[in-house]
Amino acid sequence: MNSEPVHHWDRVYRSLGSGPAPWEIPETPAEILRWIACAPAPARVIDLGCGRGHNTCALAMSEHDMVGIDFSSSAIGVARQVAAQLGLDNVSFEVADILRFRARQAFDLAIDYSVFHHIHPGDRGKYRDTVAALVRPDGLFGMVCYSDQDPSAQGGPDRVGSLGNTIHHPTADEVVSLFSGDFSLKEHGETRLGQRRHHLAHRFLFRRRTDVLSVDVRQGP
Ligand SMILES: C[S@@+](CC[C@H](N)C(=O)[O-])C[C@H]1O[C@@H](n2cnc3c(N)ncnc32)[C@H](O)[C@@H]1O
Repeated sequence: MNSEPVHHWDRVYRSLGSGPAPWEIPETPAEILRWIACAPAPARVIDLGCGRGHNTCALAMSEHDMVGIDFSSSAIGVARQVAAQLGLDNVSFEVADILRFRARQAFDLAIDYSVFHHIHPGDRGKYRDTVAALVRPDGLFGMVCYSDQDPSAQGGPDRVGSLGNTIHHPTADEVVSLFSGDFSLKEHGETRLGQRRHHLAHRFLFRRRTDVLSVDVRQGP
């Protein structure tokens, strides 16, 4: 089994039209503001699975150098339009799959707001390798994802959300052990997701270890 296919997400974004998605809240989430406060200013930041780029553009308006990637071309098309309307020249968007994406220059901070739980557990190693390759030594990685403690997760680790997305609820231990080879855990706590903030979620902030070789080097011939 693979993670949710891209055509599913394209269909979701097309069906939303100009209305908000259930995960889009008007204000920049407090967790993202917390992560950015821990990074240098201005920071070079990548927003993984940026969707229509509302958080990416908000951080670009605060002078950070932003890259947003998402594999949905519908979502990235909207994100580019919004950035152009706002006259932002310090943000770029790319249609790309997180499981394969690599960049020439490393980032001070990578953020994942509400994406990891859409990655199939069998693909989590590829996801982790991308994050490790993108974040510079001593850089940061912040993530908010649904929690296995959310009441809707009861009865099994997976559920199908209102828009037909499969959600794979990770335990905190699963996330920490996935990243522990490349990152040290700086903060973990509970938060809420959804427009009504009614879903229990994990929030993590990791710091990239300085004592490990980069993933790309380790995987080299
Ligand atoms: C719940 S939405 C969150 C979007 C955005 N982070 C936000 O807060 O608005 C999940 C996003 O992850 C994207 N996504 C899921 N799997 C992906 C993958 N393998 N590569 C790139 N994007 C992915 C989807 O297209 C979707 O835009």
